[in-house]
Amino acid sequence: MTAARAGTGPRTQPTPLADAVVFFGATGDLAFKQIFPALAGLIRDEGLDVPIIGVARSGDLESLRERARQSLAANGFTDAAATRALTDHLRYVKGSDDDAATFHALRRELGGARHPLHYLAVPPALFGEVVVNLQASGCSTGARIIVEKPFGHDLASAIALNETIHSVFAERDVFRIDHYLGKEPVQNLLYFRFANAFLEPIWNRDHVSSVQINMPEAFDVADRGAFYEQAGAIRDVVQNHLLQVVSLLAMEAPSGHTREAVRNEQFKVLDSIPPLAPDDVVRGQYRGYRKVAGVAPRSRVETFAAMRLHVDTWRWSGVPFYIRTGKCLPATVTEVLVEMRRPPQSVFGDAAPADADYFRFRLSPDMSISLGARAKKPGEAMVGEAVELFASHERGTERPPYQRLIGDAIGGDQSLFAREDSVEAAWRVVDDVLDVGTPHAYEPGTWGPDEAASVLRRGDRWHNPVATPRVPAATVPGHASATTPARGAGRGISGDHR
Ligand code: BG6
Repeated sequence: MTAARAGTGPRTQPTPLADAVVFFGATGDLAFKQIFPALAGLIRDEGLDVPIIGVARSGDLESLRERARQSLAANGFTDAAATRALTDHLRYVKGSDDDAATFHALRRELGGARHPLHYLAVPPALFGEVVVNLQASGCSTGARIIVEKPFGHDLASAIALNETIHSVFAERDVFRIDHYLGKEPVQNLLYFRFANAFLEPIWNRDHVSSVQINMPEAFDVADRGAFYEQAGAIRDVVQNHLLQVVSLLAMEAPSGHTREAVRNEQFKVLDSIPPLAPDDVVRGQYRGYRKVAGVAPRSRVETFAAMRLHVDTWRWSGVPFYIRTGKCLPATVTEVLVEMRRPPQSVFGDAAPADADYFRFRLSPDMSISLGARAKKPGEAMVGEAVELFASHERGTERPPYQRLIGDAIGGDQSLFAREDSVEAAWRVVDDVLDVGTPHAYEPGTWGPDEAASVLRRGDRWHNPVATPRVPAATVPGHASATTPARGAGRGISGDHR
C-alpha cells in the first residue's frame, strides 16, 4: 500500500493514503468474488484500517456483513481475525446511483475522511451519474476513483466516458483496473525483459520471427450471458488484458525519473499498432452459446478471436504478433511464445526443426519461462532433440491481483492501472473489427474455427498450449537437472523435454 515500486522512479508528488474506501455495487458479483477478499487480504497483510462503506440498493448493514463472510468463505479466506476486522470496518449506505439523497447520506457516513477512494463496481452506463452525484454531494473532494473494465464499448464511448470522468476527477485520481496488470507473471515479463542484458540484442525484428499470445479458456460463459452479449472476446479480454501483454513484450526500456516511465512506453507501443482490418481477424462462436440465458437467439457476438497485428516501430517492423483466445477451448492457459529466427543452415542435417528457438512465458495457471533449443542426443551420431531450459516459480507468496491493485489505489500509485491514452489507443486498434461479419461456429472442446489459420503468415502455425504444468526437471531422464537456485524456494533452472 505504501511501498514505492522499484524501477519506476520516485513519486512526483506526495500522495496521501486513502482514509476511507467506498464501493458502489456492494451486493454485486464483483464485490463478492474480488473486492471483499481483497479488502480482507489488505487488512490481514498490510493493516488496512479505514472505514469501508458499501453502497447498494437493497439490504442493510447486517446483510452486507453476512455477504462479506460468505464471500470470504467461498473464496477460501480462512483468517478469522481479518474476517472479523473486515465486518467491523463495514458501513452501509442504502440507495441508488441516481439519487442525490444517497450521496448526501454517503457524505455523512464519510465523516472526517478527506481522501476517500470510490470503487465503481457498477455497469459503466452508471459511471456518469455516480461521478456527477459524487461531485454534487462533496464526496469527490480530495477523492480518487477506481473504475472497472470495460472502459467503454468502443473508441467513441471510451472517449465519452473519459470525458465524463474527467469532468469531475483529474487523471491522476482515476484508477482503471485491468487485473492482468496486477498479476505476478505479467509483471515478470517487464522484469525479465529489462533485468537481463542478454535479451536486448536479440529482442527485435532481426532475431524474432513472430510473437504469439494464446489465452484459451476451457469453460463457457456460464451465467454471464447477459454481460458477454454486450462484450464478446475482443472487448472482454483482447482490448485490455492481451494488448497490455503486447505492450509489455514490445515496449522500449523505460527511461526518465517519474512513475509514468513504464506507462509512457506502454502507450507508445499501443499507439504504434495500426488499426486492425477485417482480414486480420477471425471471430468464432461456440455451438450452444446462443442457448445461454441472456444471449440473443441469433447472436453474432464472438466467443473466440484470432488475430494478427503489427507493432509499427523500428524494432518490430514486419514481425507478426498473433493473439488467440476463446471460451470452450481445450485448455485454460495463458502463454506467450516468442519464436526466434531459425539457423541459416542445417549444419547437422536435421530437417528444419520447428520445435526450437523460442522463449515461452507461461502466465497462467502456473508461471514459468522456458527457452526452447536443440541439444545433441547422447551417442555417437550428431543427432539432436528439442529441450527446454526451464525456470518456474512456485505459487505462494504473491498477493492476488485485486488485493495488490486496490492496495496500490489506496496508496495513490497508478503504475499498474490503465492510463487514458493507452485505453483509447487500444480501442483504436480493435475498433474497426469489433462486430464485423458473422462469427464462424466451432465445436466446444476444439481449438476454434479452422479459419483461424488464415491470419497466419505462410509457414507459421498456432501453438496449442497444454494445461498441465511442465514436467519437473528431476524426473526427466537423460538430462542433468542443474537446479541452480536463485533466491527463494522453488526456483531453479533445469533441462526439460518439451
Ligand atoms: C476477465 C474476463 O476480465 O478475465 C473473463 O471478463 C476472463 O471472461 C478473465 O475469463 C480471465 O482472467 P483470469 O485472471 O481468470 O485469467
